[in-house]
Amino acid sequence: MTRTPVNVTVTGAAGQIGYALLFRIASGHLLGADVPVSLRLLEIPQGLKAAEGIAMELDDCAFPLLRGIEITDDPNVGFDGANVALLVGARPRTKGMERGDLLSANGGIFKPQGKAINDHAADDIKVLVVGNPANTNALIAQAAAPDVPAERFTAMTRLDHNRAISQLAAKTGAAVSDIKRLTIWGNHSATQYPDIFHAEIAGKNAAEVVNDQAWLADEFIPTVAKRGAAIIEARGASSAASAANAAIDHIHTWVNGTAEGDWTSMGIPSDGSYGVPEGLISSFPVTCKDGKYEIVQGLDINEFSRARIDASVQELVEERDAVRELGLI
Ligand code: NAD
Ligand code: LMR
Repeated sequence: MTRTPVNVTVTGAAGQIGYALLFRIASGHLLGADVPVSLRLLEIPQGLKAAEGIAMELDDCAFPLLRGIEITDDPNVGFDGANVALLVGARPRTKGMERGDLLSANGGIFKPQGKAINDHAADDIKVLVVGNPANTNALIAQAAAPDVPAERFTAMTRLDHNRAISQLAAKTGAAVSDIKRLTIWGNHSATQYPDIFHAEIAGKNAAEVVNDQAWLADEFIPTVAKRGAAIIEARGASSAASAANAAIDHIHTWVNGTAEGDWTSMGIPSDGSYGVPEGLISSFPVTCKDGKYEIVQGLDINEFSRARIDASVQELVEERDAVRELGLI
């Protein structure tokens, strides 16, 4: 049986994350080994030539699932009929740039992209924002798309989630696959809170297995929260393959579901759960089923966690207020 290809739009396609992402989408890792895909590569005019080179390489792989590649610098074309949109391209902070300048430059990208998604994407569109500041860029795009259900706009904290699992596995000697129910709360920034109090290692409570408050507060949390900066320092460029891998994980889990007894972390519009103001795009523990996600409810939040969740959410409130002031939402 021939299935209709799923249209996947990738912005910033010629960037370093794009290069690590596109080949895995085309080979079936995003949606499944039996799901054909059609790719739309959205770039700015300066990126079009490099995007054409990537398209040539994609052709040269002869991926059986890849049914088409379109390259454009027009968001109205790039998001036309999109079922999945990975918003990777963003304006990086450069020397001398104030936070307001950064938010404003990104507003100039994510507001028109949100509008183009609103006007042209397929009814089942799912959006993942990777480009930083990811949570607030997702908020800007979502606000510009009033006809799309707000919950379809998400921001990536899966890389933080994966980083936290890896650090916890290294500390305890556990296998990565034995670690479940870890949570990233808040913003994809240095204020994020990786929470192990509800996590399990081979069925046992992770905080009890670790039993080392100093490691938790002084090593684990800062290592995970500042990992992005550490990669930049070591590599001379921000994380790319691991970020692309996390983007694949995020969409794959959203579409195909979380495993029984486990959950993941996604930046999603808050419904007010856990005291996070409604509408803020903040990271929560979520389960996914049938292409939808739900916040895990009823977790006890201890004082240690509460203070850290509140601090990261406060940063998101400030970013939201700043983009509101700039007229971006
Ligand atoms: P990069 O600079 O290599 O590539 C960005 C690409 O985006 C460039 O090719 C550029 O031409 C393109 N671009 C810029 N504006 C665009 C627009 N309006 N429309 C379409 N394309 C546009 O950057 P990268 O390393 O690929 O990183 C991309 C973003 O992802 C950065 O903002 C980075 O900070 C962020 N990031 C997020 C996470 C996360 O966990 N959420 C992790 C790593 C990186
Ligand atoms: C990361 O977490 O690796 C990135 O968000 C870092 C960055 O600033 O691009």
